Amino acid sequence: MAWRRGALWVGGTLVALALGGLLFAASGIYNVAARSGHFDVTTWVIELVLRRSVALHARSAEAPNLDDIDRIRLGAAHFQGGCAPCHGAPGTARNPIVKGMLPVPPDLARAAETWSEKELFWIVRNGLKYTGMPAWSAPTREDEVWSVVAFLRRLPTMDTAGYRALAEGEAEPAVAQRAGWSPELLRCGRCHDTSDRPSASQLVPRLAGQSARYFAAALRAYKDEWRPSGIMQPIAAELDEAAIDRLAEQYARLPGLVGTAPTALADDLSQGRSIATAGVPEAGIPACLSCHASGYGLYPRLIGQSAAYIRQQLHLFQAGQREQTVLGQIMTPVARRLNDRQIQEVADFLASSGREPPGGDLSP
Ligand code: HEC
Ligand code: HEC
Ligand code: HEC
Repeated sequence: MAWRRGALWVGGTLVALALGGLLFAASGIYNVAARSGHFDVTTWVIELVLRRSVALHARSAEAPNLDDIDRIRLGAAHFQGGCAPCHGAPGTARNPIVKGMLPVPPDLARAAETWSEKELFWIVRNGLKYTGMPAWSAPTREDEVWSVVAFLRRLPTMDTAGYRALAEGEAEPAVAQRAGWSPELLRCGRCHDTSDRPSASQLVPRLAGQSARYFAAALRAYKDEWRPSGIMQPIAAELDEAAIDRLAEQYARLPGLVGTAPTALADDLSQGRSIATAGVPEAGIPACLSCHASGYGLYPRLIGQSAAYIRQQLHLFQAGQREQTVLGQIMTPVARRLNDRQIQEVADFLASSGREPPGGDLSP
């Protein structure tokens, strides 16, 4: 019966340890002050758990092309508003309030050297428990998270001027001097087009000249979390109803959406023109411009929108990511009937058709 006595001893010790731990926790002796820091051994254990957990969970992610300059630009622009307030940025030290956090959000200049691309993706998408590092607010938008990773990879080689040019587009004072711009519009102009400057990235939609009703509906869809975007949802959440209507009116009045240079693949726009103006009847695809140039303000204007943005949004419709709104439910079945080649053709045509307008009156 020796083994029985042994088992009792082991069991008894474990129960005593568990009770001791519980008593310690309940006693209040442990100091939870952020100021008091961790014991060296605690820090060591936490780091071990964090490293191993990220390494194990991050294995399955698959990266798109991270050298795409439009991804890098979009990632930089979001970083400036969504990450730099905690992590700081080239030329901007971390705020003293943030330095009182435990752990302190690290300067990310070296993060791309310590973590692999997949690991960075995993951390930015999922956040880190018990640290204050938040998860991406729209987890289905992996494409957006990859844009941030594309930027983080470039960060180690970036100086202050290079960072500012990428993240802020134009120097703030120059923007501020522009007559008639409300402070709200200036905030948006960091990413979106102004009447004299294109969007910061081809993945950021052009807004100047967009229909006011569609514009306001889009902002409300972000605000209500019906249209997922970890970039636009936090921005829309801060706008009240009056600001949404004001911005929609201001942007609708700006001259814009008149067409960009055609992309390299757009030498022959006839297929795209045909889809946009006549549809593909045998595939059940209606003419895009029957809705999009109809003058009914809830349909967005597409003429002159960037081809990269049009392609990306059509893929999002196909994946059901814009299906939560009534308007999205009108567009989703149309998008699902298009194949990749048709998407490319029609996007190139719409983007370049300011230069080469299709027949008929397009103005609403
Ligand atoms: C509210 C503050 C806060 C915000 C906002 C925030 N982070 Fe963090 N982040 C943290 C904290 C705290 C840690 C944990 C550091 C640790 O465990 O040592 C962290 C850790 C990280 C790490 C791991 C760094 C390392 O070397 O261990 C990465 C990468 C990261 N954040 C990226 C981002 C990105 C990109 C954004 C913006 C999309 C962002 N963070 C937004 C607070 C924040
Ligand atoms: C950090 C960059 C950034 C900033 C700052 C920003 N936006 Fe955006 N905006 C985007 C991106 C990226 C999208 C596309 C998101 C998506 O995929 O749904 C977008 C989409 C939109 C759309 C939908 C357009 C369409 O064609 O469907 C509207 C409207 C909009 N933004 C308005 C604003 C307003 C108003 C502001 C300022 C208060 C603002 N944005 C600030 C990046 C930004
Ligand atoms: C029956 C009307 C209708 C037809 C036909 C139609 N669309 Fe749409 N489309 C819509 C509506 C409504 C929306 C707004 C959806 C939303 O708000 O989520 C939209 C949105 C879009 C958007 C997103 C624009 C933005 O700024 O985010 C793209 C891109 C688009 N459509 C492309 C096309 C293409 C390409 C075709 C032709 C193959 C087409 N549409 C045909 C009704 C239509």
